Amino acid sequence: MSKVHFELEKTIYLMDQLAEMPASQIAMAGRSNVGKSSLINRLAGRKKLAKISSSPGKTRSLNFYMVTPGDFYLVDLPGYGYARTSKKERAQWANLIEIYIKDNDWLRAVAVLLDSRHSPQKIDLELVTFLQGIGMTIIPIMTKADKPKQRDREKVRKQWATILDGQKPLVTSAETGMGMDTAWEALRAAVAK
Ligand code: GTP
Ligand code: MG
Repeated sequence: MSKVHFELEKTIYLMDQLAEMPASQIAMAGRSNVGKSSLINRLAGRKKLAKISSSPGKTRSLNFYMVTPGDFYLVDLPGYGYARTSKKERAQWANLIEIYIKDNDWLRAVAVLLDSRHSPQKIDLELVTFLQGIGMTIIPIMTKADKPKQRDREKVRKQWATILDGQKPLVTSAETGMGMDTAWEALRAAVAK
């Protein structure tokens, strides 16, 4: 494959900044700290493209990365479930993300990132249920696969497959690069659909 290129084209903080971005889009969603920005960096082959942090709540805007070849946007979303922000701020983000996902004809799929170390959590289930409810294509991706034992990881993967009507999450690590080829395949397949 020819070398892939990512270009940050737009950053959105507020509802009234939401504008049509006329190209196929895939959004990266998941709880705060799950590794959304790290996965984008790994896919881009660049360590400092998206800002990452060991403390949750790093990404606070919708960031549109144009990916070439392919000409689609990968959209880095703020994480949910971050307790230390104000209630009002959390509600605003949830609203912004919900509107972005619902009113967007260009959105082909939402990659839902899931921590390999944890059994499905209520807040993740809420997102999955919301996406299933609006008929959105879900690409489930387990992150931080380098952390747990393989046996424990597989247990979590099976739990998710049950919730997702048999669809097995991809298993990735932004640390080691594990699963990047299959992740690319899934993203490109969703764009081509
Ligand atoms: P928010 O922007 O706060 O929503 O977080 P995020 O989902 O973008 O997470 P981010 O990419 O900033 O990563 C959070 C922390 O997890 C950082 O300390 C990363 O280095 C670490 N991390 C991310 N991916 C991996 C991984 O695959 N393996 C390991 N071991 N650590 C990871
Ligand atoms: Mg982030």
